[in-house]
Amino acid sequence: MINASELKLTAVSPDVRRVAAQAVVVAVAQSTDGPRLLGSPLPKAEAAALQESLVSLGISGAPDEVVRLPATDSLKAGVLVLSGIGRVEGDTPDPECLRRAAGSAARQLAGLSKVVFAFPTPTVELAAAVAEGVALGAYSFPNHRSKAPEKFPLTEGVIATGASAHKSLPAALRRAAVIGRAVRSIRDLVNTAPNDLYPESFASETRTVTKSLPLKVTVFDEKRLEKDGYGGIMGVGKGSARPPRLVKIEYTPAKAGKHLALVGKGITFDTGGISLKPPANMHHMKSDMAGAATVLGTISAIAELGLPVRTTAWLCLAENMPGGNAARPGDVFTMFGGKTVEILNTDAEGRLVMADGLVAASAEKPDVVIDIATLTGAQMVALGRRTSGVMGDNGIRDALVSAAEATGESVWGMPLPEELRSSLDSTVADLANAGDRNGGMMTAAVFLEEFVGEVDGKKIPWAHIDIAGPAFNDVAPYGYVPKNGTGAGLRTLLAYAEQLAAQ
Ligand code: BES
Ligand code: MN
Ligand code: ZN
Repeated sequence: MINASELKLTAVSPDVRRVAAQAVVVAVAQSTDGPRLLGSPLPKAEAAALQESLVSLGISGAPDEVVRLPATDSLKAGVLVLSGIGRVEGDTPDPECLRRAAGSAARQLAGLSKVVFAFPTPTVELAAAVAEGVALGAYSFPNHRSKAPEKFPLTEGVIATGASAHKSLPAALRRAAVIGRAVRSIRDLVNTAPNDLYPESFASETRTVTKSLPLKVTVFDEKRLEKDGYGGIMGVGKGSARPPRLVKIEYTPAKAGKHLALVGKGITFDTGGISLKPPANMHHMKSDMAGAATVLGTISAIAELGLPVRTTAWLCLAENMPGGNAARPGDVFTMFGGKTVEILNTDAEGRLVMADGLVAASAEKPDVVIDIATLTGAQMVALGRRTSGVMGDNGIRDALVSAAEATGESVWGMPLPEELRSSLDSTVADLANAGDRNGGMMTAAVFLEEFVGEVDGKKIPWAHIDIAGPAFNDVAPYGYVPKNGTGAGLRTLLAYAEQLAAQ
């Protein structure tokens, strides 16, 4: 296996003229008066001359515009890179603009090793955004190639910042590195071919990647799942020659206030089962385990950062195949906990494995349950490719939306309309697995809600995040987002866990 090397993030003060690196990246903003060079480390006269020639160089400052120029003697680095940052109010861009401009430059500068990012970052928050952008943009997935590729991602990002002496900067850079590592591990799992990543190999990969962290991993194999009555996970998995798994990961810090449970959909490949999907783009369904990869990445990041939040992650792993033993439309499953579900469409499998996971998670009476899944095509109809939908108890839903806003992820709150519940009524079982297609993302959430447990007669606070579109980028890369697996959702969940820790 060919693996990209680790990324090192450091900080220096804004005068980077003597820093030894291959390139120095500066920001160019768009404005009504044309492109504008933002606070570069160049000597005044040089900066003014460059500003004068931006238009004739064809530079606009648009997002994802990354242009390389030979540097003059005033810089020790050989190359000056101009990275477009889009429209900016005043002289300091907002964190997400910086994150994207740094990420796009890091992504497009693959092949270089050490690069300085000299963006206007007077605060720790802004410096951290640049560091995150670099950590998210410096990614490639060479694992399935027979030869090492010509260009590897950056190995060192130097953040030039006015906050370089601030005492909280090292922790912020460390957090950026942890986020980068976690997101890259999610992308790797999503991008891995589904003949290599199946429930059993995903479970053993979980043991490997958590080995150095204070996490306890328990793997439920098919015998245990059958014996304990996990009818959703077993029912979905039985059409495959490769049996399902449930992975439980526990983080129990000495000092822990709240208990957070995370449940992730881990369909390692979704053919649709007997309700077979059409062939076009079916290979994208290797990404149907992104929710499970995200909860694994999140609990790993929580543990690495030592957050004082007890966390339990549940990875619901199965392969949805149309084998001879596959579930039929009309079958009735008895889910973990005893509720029965009539299968109307074997392609609505995610909610079945998630139902078992939600019941198992609820049994421990956590303070909050959050589930994350590539659950419905309807998510993309409602919100497009880049915006995740979040539904559930209004308090948790809104807390997730505000956590997302602070991280730069696009997450939108949606309702749980009560009239959708009756569309899931079955003529033979407690519930059917498919209902109204209008608002199908919310219908799926209403189904999941049925499996959230109670403590002392009160439903456990819960929210569901549908990442069907955002988890996988099947168009061109942009900002810090590569093609294919994206790692969407991790930053929101981590920020939410940090909010819980602060309570
Ligand atoms: N994994 C899919 C949802 C999906 C679709 C994710 C496209 C990413 C991209 C899910 O299992 C599914 O097939 N959902 C069905 C549900 C329907 C049969 C009620 C859907 O959305 O069509
Ligand atoms: Mn499906
Ligand atoms: Zn699916």
